[in-house]
Amino acid sequence: MKYSKIQTGCIDGFKVENILVEIDINSRSTQQTFKIVGMPSTSVLESEKRVLSAIRNTGFSIPNGSIVANLSPTSMKKEGSHFDLPIAISLLEASRQIKELDKNYFIFGELGLNGEVRPVHGIALFLMFIKELNKEAKFIIPKGNQEESAFVSKKDVLVIENLRDIESISLGIIDKFEPFYERSNEIFYDIDFQEIRGQIFAKRAVEIAASGFHNVLMKGTPGSGKTMIAKRVPTILPDMTREEIIESTMLYSVAGYMNFIVNRRPFRSPHHTASSASIIGGGAIPKPGEISLAHNGVLFMDEFPEYRADVIEALRQPLEDGEVVVTRAKSVAKFPAKFMLIASQNPCPCGYYGDKEIECTCSMNQIVNYNKKISGPIMDRIDIRIDVPRVKIEELMSKEEGESSKKIKERVSKTAQIQIRRQGKLNGKLSNKELKKVANLTDKAENFLKQASMNLKLTARSVNRIIKISRTIADSFESRNIEINHVSEALNYRGTR
Ligand SMILES: Nc1ncnc2c1ncn2[C@@H]1O[C@H](COP(=O)(O)OP(=O)(O)O)[C@@H](O)[C@H]1O
Ligand SMILES: [Mg+2]
Repeated sequence: MKYSKIQTGCIDGFKVENILVEIDINSRSTQQTFKIVGMPSTSVLESEKRVLSAIRNTGFSIPNGSIVANLSPTSMKKEGSHFDLPIAISLLEASRQIKELDKNYFIFGELGLNGEVRPVHGIALFLMFIKELNKEAKFIIPKGNQEESAFVSKKDVLVIENLRDIESISLGIIDKFEPFYERSNEIFYDIDFQEIRGQIFAKRAVEIAASGFHNVLMKGTPGSGKTMIAKRVPTILPDMTREEIIESTMLYSVAGYMNFIVNRRPFRSPHHTASSASIIGGGAIPKPGEISLAHNGVLFMDEFPEYRADVIEALRQPLEDGEVVVTRAKSVAKFPAKFMLIASQNPCPCGYYGDKEIECTCSMNQIVNYNKKISGPIMDRIDIRIDVPRVKIEELMSKEEGESSKKIKERVSKTAQIQIRRQGKLNGKLSNKELKKVANLTDKAENFLKQASMNLKLTARSVNRIIKISRTIADSFESRNIEINHVSEALNYRGTR
């Protein structure tokens, strides 16, 4: 019998299914054929040509007879070009051209016609997922993907550049693996908070938002610096934890980013004309969208009311659960999507309502409608809402530098630590029930809030949001209780709706 099997995998949403590649060669058959079965998609069927050429062009030979490659389990549709290498290696084993490999190897790689092994999508997910379930697992991956193995022990991974090398690997001659990923302790950005002139109020609001991972809506005339502020938020967020780095790297890997280690908080800003699939996630083979690429970082939605209504509504579930469920005809995929939403908008369609110098040309109706475009359930998830007016020209020209991102980040990290220690998560992610347990409003603060909510006709929901923000403000002062001054500051960030 000329038979061999090699393990590999297939991506299914944010999971990996183990796939067994089996090769059977019937050398008594007078026909020379090669067939791939086991629900291969068209992309996998193309493998056939690449595998045969690569084998021929690397000095190996194509065995006589009829060859069948089976991808098991056959119930699952197989996608991707990474089956080339396991199929080719299995074929070489079955025809005894190489020594059998250790059966704990999981193999991934696309082949060029010349035998070159090319990088593929999803390696970070394959490695982390398979290793989690199978401690014995070892891997052979394309050299072009090697950085994605940063989180797996070096001794379990071999990189390969050309199919030719499989012979030396099978003989145990190649077994070295170069270290390549050292996490630098300091992350550098080429932008900094200190470049923002004035905007003391907005900067403080955004610092509080960052400290508790609260969502923010900034309203202001064009050119007031909203985009500038949003872009700098990742520079003040705490460093990513190892778990966060791994999870984000896996998401980027599935999305098709190769050799990309996400070691700084992502900042994503999809345009409002982008498709729902690209923002939320989707496609025939479900792929993560922008909201998942923003996982552990910032999702900036500029001109918020301009996004398609279905896109805005689809944000509701991720804003609540920190993950998104993408449903397609035959599959359901769940991707993490825990991001800090920073939305910005003009105060009205023309942009200048409330501006001190330029006159607004909108009717009252237009202004009201524009501001109503975002539905209540979405607005409910935006804790901090502020006006960002344009700064005066003198202020813009001033040489006086503000505080550096580094300094603000230290405070933010400290405030975040307090929350994690107390409740295992940041205040922005607390449910109302959880918030009640940790709020600790002093009697005075509670009375003050009651009075304020009557005077300002606040809804129960906005009162909850104010308590949540007050909690983060109190934490920023390392105060166990929420005092009057914390509530009073929080009231400034409640917006008009
Ligand atoms: N407070 C500020 N400090 C420094 N530069 C500013 C400030 N506000 C605006 N600018 C300048 O104006 C430009 C436009 O700002 P931007 O952030 O794009 O405004 P918006 O997004 O509100 O329309 C910025 O690139 C920056 O050069
Ligand atoms: Mg802008």
